[in-house]
This record gives sequence, structure tokens and C-alpha cells, in this order.
Amino acid sequence: CARRGKLRGMMQAFRAALLWFDPHVPGPSVRYEPDGLLVTGPGDGPDAPRRVVDVGPWATLAPRYAAVPLTHWPQRLIAPGFVDMHIHYPQTDVIGSPADGLLPWLERYTFPHEARFHEPAYAASVAEVFLDELLRHGVTTALTFATSHPASVDALMTAASQRGLKLIAGKVLQDRHSPDGVRDETQRSLLDTEALIQRWHGRGRLGYAITPRFAPSCSDAQMRGAAELAARYPDVWIQSHVAENVDEVRWAAQLYPGARSYLAVYGDFGLLRERAVYAHCIHIDDADRALMRETGAAAAVSPTSNLFLGSGFFDYASAERIGFRYGLASDVGGGTSFCPFHTMLAAYCVGRAGVTGGGLPKQGVSLPPSHLWWQHTAGAAEAMGLAGVVGNLAPGCEADFVVLNPQAKPLLARKWAQADSLEEALFALIVLGDDRVVERVCLAAEAQPRL
Ligand code: GUN
Ligand code: ZN
Repeated sequence: CARRGKLRGMMQAFRAALLWFDPHVPGPSVRYEPDGLLVTGPGDGPDAPRRVVDVGPWATLAPRYAAVPLTHWPQRLIAPGFVDMHIHYPQTDVIGSPADGLLPWLERYTFPHEARFHEPAYAASVAEVFLDELLRHGVTTALTFATSHPASVDALMTAASQRGLKLIAGKVLQDRHSPDGVRDETQRSLLDTEALIQRWHGRGRLGYAITPRFAPSCSDAQMRGAAELAARYPDVWIQSHVAENVDEVRWAAQLYPGARSYLAVYGDFGLLRERAVYAHCIHIDDADRALMRETGAAAAVSPTSNLFLGSGFFDYASAERIGFRYGLASDVGGGTSFCPFHTMLAAYCVGRAGVTGGGLPKQGVSLPPSHLWWQHTAGAAEAMGLAGVVGNLAPGCEADFVVLNPQAKPLLARKWAQADSLEEALFALIVLGDDRVVERVCLAAEAQPRL
């Protein structure tokens, strides 16, 4: 409508407490203003996402933007929209399905459920619920699996473009060791993938991810074809799973006896590069970590999933020691929650637990809350090759943000009021926060914040 069009073209200013990350300092360099001003403005083209124009203390910036319409949210915190690096939209209704580990869970619940997504109307109905859940929880960017059915991608992309989320998704490739109903056919799957790339990648805020489910479910020909497409379309993402569960690792070793490791299987095919995101990376060694670092591939750490399925613990200390890209993910429906607070809390607990190597317990780490937050916003964006685009509120970033209300829960309100430092305040939100705290979500594609 005319009013929306007019608002889109205007600058807008928002006054509240502000959380973001210094874009000039690598890593989780948190910035905080207790009384801040966020100024957003139109993007470069008529349909381009809105951008952050300025961010900083209200007292300093207010005179500069006196003519800009101002919205004041007292006692609220504006923070970047969350980035979920790995999630399965067709597993929205698979949440909370218990099993004796990953492989029985896939056979018993996941594959039969995903088989339903050949039906476009069913896929479309779940896509709506999925996107609503993401937004309700303040997730504004997500890298998601669809199913092996191309129609499941069309359904999700159509719904996401209507809502304006930054969504990257792909048709699952799985031409072997998969039951009827989800197994695809090698040549057809590669043709379908290329057609979907051409249909969706770069359309509005949407992106495409080439999606081999995991090495055990893809023939050599399918893996080779996926790698060829990844080379032909270098700004398209790759997403897969690796080294999540010990039975899965053993299986991969039997299938690829010549590979140095499970991760190396992907490397040998040419599927490790920037914009390649591998969920889990639990049962890996230092040579694998170095391979991640050298190729620019990223790990999607999925702690609620790893705890629920009993898969193991991501080794934060070793990830930091070797230094490769990683960030946080829900991995719904192996994961148990869409909620970024729940995921950050689980990540903290996983860090504390440490890992056992050769039967010897290793010291756990105590990840600072600002680091956990970074892993689910700017760090995740950086790991996905989207630094300076999403996950932050530095000038130039697309203006996806959440408005958090620490008063939304009585105990959180108390802890928030008692906090002596930013880290304590963020810890209160991480430990006690949930969807009730996410009061508004503002998407860069929309003229006005949604309630
Ligand atoms: N490995 C292969 N497929 C899947 C999946 O759907 N979920 C998880 N957590 N791991 C997988
Ligand atoms: Zn997954």
C-alpha cells in the first residue's frame, strides 16, 4: 500500500538498549549501549532490504537524526535477529521423537515423516508453521534442509519470500541407503538441484544450498555431481552432516575405507569450501579441524540435538585451539527447540561438560554469554559467508532485529535488575529467556516492525 511504500523509503530511528558486535574486530567483540539509537534506512533498490544507517549512544546520535521518525522502547533491548545455521523445516513435527541414537531415529521417525513432503499442499502447510516458529523466536536468517522432493523447496521458498526472511534452503540429495518415499534418483536429483538453484538462488533474500544429506546416503556419482554444481555456482551454499554419532562414523568408515576420515570424504569429493556448512563435527580430530580451517568450511554446532540424541559434545576448546569457523544451530527436529536462548544455554552446558578423549576427561570451557550470543548472530553469519550482511547491527547490515523484553518473566526481571555487568545480564536472558521475551521482530524486508 502507499503508506507502506512511503515508510519503506524513509529513515526510521529506534531508541532502546542496544546490543551488537564491533565489525572491525574479529571474533565476539560485543558492543552495548544502555540508552542507544538504531537508525535504519532504505536499501539500494526498490525491493532491497532496509539497512542499518547508524548505531550508538542516543545522546550522541539523536541531534543528528532529529528529523527522523523515532520509536522509543523503554526498558527494552534491541539485538540482531538470530541466525540458525542448521535446521530441517520438514522435521518441525518430528521434535521430541525419542530413539536409541541417530540412525534408529532417522529410520523410525524422520524418513517416514519426510516422505509426506512429496505432497505440495502438505509441504506448504508445514512451511507456514515453520516460518512462524522461526520468527516468533526471533530467528531472521536460517539455513535449512527441505526434503528430497523439489516441491518441498518450492513450498518453503514461496512462503519465505512472502514473509521476507533471509532463508537459504535446498533439496536433500539421498540416492542410496534410504527408504522408498525419500530416496531420489541420481541424475534426476542433480538436474532438479540445478533447476532449483536457477529458480531460487539470489531471488529477493533467498539463497540455495546444495544439500547432500550425509555421505552414507549419497552415491559417489551423486557426491561428484553435487561437487560439480558447487564449483559451477560458487556463491551457492553447501550443507550436510558429519561426525555426529559413533555408529554413523563407523558406517562412513566402512563405506569409504580409503578416506583418512569421515570429514575427508567430503574434502576428497570437493565439497569443503567457504559457504559449506557441516552440522555437528563432534567426532573429529585435529587434522579434520585443520581441514575445516584451510577450506573455510564451517561447523553448525547443534547442542540441543546432540544432547537429545545422545550424539556427543562439540569440542569447543579444540575448535578454538585450531581455529575454524563455527556457529550455533537448532537442528530441529533432532534439536528440541526453535528458541535461540535454549540453544545458547545448551551450548554453554556442552562447553562445561568438555569431552572425553581416549577415556580421559578434558577440562570443560565456560563460554562467556556474549560469545554464545555471537555464535548465534554475527559469528554464525560470518561462518556462513554473510559477515556484514546479517547477524549484526553495524552500519550497512540488513536491518533484521529483535526487541527483547527482560520484564516478560518475573524471575528474569529480577535477575536482569540484579545484574552487575553486561555478561551477567546476558546470562540471565540466556538461562531464563524464551519466546515470551521476544516482543517484536523487525525484518529488513518489511517497512514496519511486526508485533
Ligand atoms: N544425518 C543425516 N540426516 C540427518 C538428520 O535429518 N538429522 C540429523 N541430526 N542428522 C542427520
Ligand atoms: Zn540436521
